[in-house]
Amino acid sequence: AAASAEKDLVVIGGGPGGYVSAIKAAQLGLSVACVEGRGSLGGTCLNVGCIPSKGLAAYPAEGRLGSGVAGAALLNSSHKYVEAKSHFAAYGIKVGDVSYDFADIQKQKDTAVSGLTKGIEGLFKKNKVEYVKGWGKIAGPNEVEVAAADGSGSTTLRAKNILIATGSEVTPLPGVPIDEEKIVSSTGALALKSVPGEMVVIGAGYIGLEMGSVYARLGAKVTVVEFLDTVVPSMDSEVRRTFHRTLEKQGLKFKMGTKVTKGEVVNGRVQLTLEPAKGGPSEKLETDVCLVAIGRRPYTKGLGLEALGIKTDARGRVEVDSHFRTSVPSVYAIGDVIPGPMLAHKAEEDGVAAVEIMAGKHGHVNYATVPSICYTHPEVAYVGLTEDEAKAKGLSYKTGKFSFMANSRARAVGDTDGMVKFVADKATDKLLGVHIMGANAGEMIHEAVLALEYGASAEDIARTCHGHPTLSEAVKEAAMATAFGKPIHM
Ligand code: FAD
Ligand code: NAI
Repeated sequence: AAASAEKDLVVIGGGPGGYVSAIKAAQLGLSVACVEGRGSLGGTCLNVGCIPSKGLAAYPAEGRLGSGVAGAALLNSSHKYVEAKSHFAAYGIKVGDVSYDFADIQKQKDTAVSGLTKGIEGLFKKNKVEYVKGWGKIAGPNEVEVAAADGSGSTTLRAKNILIATGSEVTPLPGVPIDEEKIVSSTGALALKSVPGEMVVIGAGYIGLEMGSVYARLGAKVTVVEFLDTVVPSMDSEVRRTFHRTLEKQGLKFKMGTKVTKGEVVNGRVQLTLEPAKGGPSEKLETDVCLVAIGRRPYTKGLGLEALGIKTDARGRVEVDSHFRTSVPSVYAIGDVIPGPMLAHKAEEDGVAAVEIMAGKHGHVNYATVPSICYTHPEVAYVGLTEDEAKAKGLSYKTGKFSFMANSRARAVGDTDGMVKFVADKATDKLLGVHIMGANAGEMIHEAVLALEYGASAEDIARTCHGHPTLSEAVKEAAMATAFGKPIHM
């Protein structure tokens, strides 16, 4: 097919890494095309990840479940259901029998997703980014061959620079084949037609705990099977233990230190074989639906990396230097396909920095201040070092804590599970890490991210005026506990 005019940049992949890079590049004056094969923009995050799992917390004025406007997705809908069913009475609100229509919950999620993906198409038009629908292959250092998504042939795009933003895919578990109906990945779990009576989740990571929470709230008996002895190992161990107990109180069951060696569907039920991680006698477990959530791996299928000599590491991640450049100088890579946390906001930061560098500016990402947020209830959000990491590094540190039980806003709204914990340098008081478990922790963490980015001390936060009554006052109190040894309200 005819080659189109040369672009400054061709981005392969339209996920949060790729689409944000394309828009930023256009804003910096580069001519840019973005190649995406799945038929909609937004990547894993918008189509089958962050957005459908979480939903938008904000409702439009007339928004209600079933009203057809963008609103809730699964975590949000299921949380509101639990609130109405189990907590409204405590607020003095009387409702009759509370029930849900799962098809309506799914419809709401789909409406939110399609509205947002179309929104990105609009942003592309506004910023003059060319959207090329098809699967890209790097045919040379300055050439991307695109096989049209509708099978109508292929085009070759010429580019000064190429950006690989092809993201990641589900890591399969040997012996447990995914059919997306009975044995599902997160994609199948987001699209179940009904709420199963029983669900087994393999992996107590982000996906396992978020999707496990959704279905437990909607009435499924959920058992989480985890290889390690702890849930989400990257969390601060003190916070993590409290979090684990809270999830158990919500009805999730855990089988820790256990691996699944086999899974098959027999007469419509999933039969699993489990073994202690350290070895020992196996046991059987039967369930209606099994979710495999043991991690994600970089996706580079059909990209032509080998032919071009673009290096990948042992885990299949594209190797880049500190400027996001691969072993071929005109080819850059960002997001889930390179090393680092597999998070949408990290992919976006990578993308902005990479195109700034291409445009002759000084892009940079500080991986030490990328926040992690688990969107369960309560949420767990953290940034910087855990206490264990500070210890392992041999740092001389101190900690300070504050419980939401002692926060007036949390008490007033009856949502007191959780705490704020600071880790700071013992001698200088400089912040090393902040860990929050509590309602809205995912919003509250950003004051800590900013503080860490600015190299602030615990005392800086302790002396910053916080509005009353807010949950954020717990952050200030934990800062006081760290800087002065004592908070006011505990
Ligand atoms: P992706 O979003 O994977 O996008 C890559 C895109 O490239 C895809 O659309 C793919 O179709 C396309 N592509 C691949 N190869 C080609 C090719 N050759 N040609 C053309 N197109 C191609 N992260 C968070 O930060 N917060 C969350 O709450 C969160 N929740 C999640 C929930 C779930 C269930 C899952 C699965 C993930 C979640 N994540 C979350 C992770 C987040 O989705 C990823 O980190 C993020 O999407 C990575 O962005 P990316 O642009 O690197 O890749
Ligand atoms: P994960 O890495 O978060 O968790 C996987 C869990 O599975 C780990 O605890 C691991 O020990 C366990 N595991 C691995 N092999 C196992 C086995 N054979 N048997 C039992 N357990 C096993 O991966 P997950 O949950 O699949 O999510 C993938 C990625 O997507 C996350 O790492 C994260 O980057 C991203 N994500 C982010 C979210 C957020 O930011 N809120 C939400 C969902 C996903």
